[in-house]
Amino acid sequence: MKLDDKVAVVSGGGSGFGRAMSLLYAKEGAKVVVSDIISERGEETIDLITKDGGEAIFIKADASSASDNEKLIKQTVDHYGRLDIAFNNAGIGGSSAPIGEYPVEAWDKIIAVNLSSVFYGMRFQIPQMLKNGGGVIVNMASILGQVGFAGACGYVAAKHGVVGLTKNVALEYGKQGIRANSVGPGFVETNLTHDLIENKDAYDFLVYKHPMGRLGKVDEIVDLVLWLSSDRASFCNGGYYTVDGGYLAK
Ligand SMILES: NC(=O)c1ccc[n+]([C@@H]2O[C@H](COP(=O)([O-])OP(=O)(O)OC[C@H]3O[C@@H](n4cnc5c(N)ncnc54)[C@H](O)[C@@H]3O)[C@@H](O)[C@H]2O)c1
Repeated sequence: MKLDDKVAVVSGGGSGFGRAMSLLYAKEGAKVVVSDIISERGEETIDLITKDGGEAIFIKADASSASDNEKLIKQTVDHYGRLDIAFNNAGIGGSSAPIGEYPVEAWDKIIAVNLSSVFYGMRFQIPQMLKNGGGVIVNMASILGQVGFAGACGYVAAKHGVVGLTKNVALEYGKQGIRANSVGPGFVETNLTHDLIENKDAYDFLVYKHPMGRLGKVDEIVDLVLWLSSDRASFCNGGYYTVDGGYLAK
């Protein structure tokens, strides 16, 4: 058990990486606060954790709302007394169009859900972590935090923003016991990518983009997040860690 007695909060914990990471945190001994905008999904994650003998609660929160993030941290501390780990993971795929045609509302939405959410999360997590002498933050970026992807300007800009925001945490709080890193997964089949991957041409293109000749698996991503969240990564701070089957090597 790497995380005995730690309290971890996960955004977007109702599906995909967020669900898998919530289960893994609990398995490693952490008390987990699962949050999501869809209650049924979040409650399902809690059922899976408790059936497995873990400890978790669900708190509904819209990650793109500053006030929901503030309430989420307050309720976490009211319930478990502290906050040690935050996995800022909630995200959406967003619209697909070239920049000159990208709907303005779609831009505002994806920046809110995929970038402002990470700022809002950390805005309220960090003061709480400082109260208990430090903490660990892992922010979900993407390979698209490092390179472009035609048609996905909002997603690409948001994920590049997440990588930069994470670097600032290291500069501002490194001496106060807070570590923050971002992760850059390649493409993995989850609810987010399901429709894209259903399209054979799109699937073949994505496989071609990964030199290993396949997409990633959820477990291959969350193992990295677990390691970064644990004391084994004690000198990792402000970094961007890829887990992408070689996507960025091409
Ligand atoms: N799947 C991939 O290939 C891939 C690759 C790199 C990065 N990512 C990133 O991983 C993260 C998780 O994606 P996933 O693939 O697990 O997708 P997913 O759709 O399976 O899970 C995302 C979860 O976030 C929740 N969510 C969406 N909007 C929210 C909001 N405003 N507030 C709170 N919760 C919200 C959804 O309800 C869902 O439960 C995202 O940030 C995504 O950009 C995904």
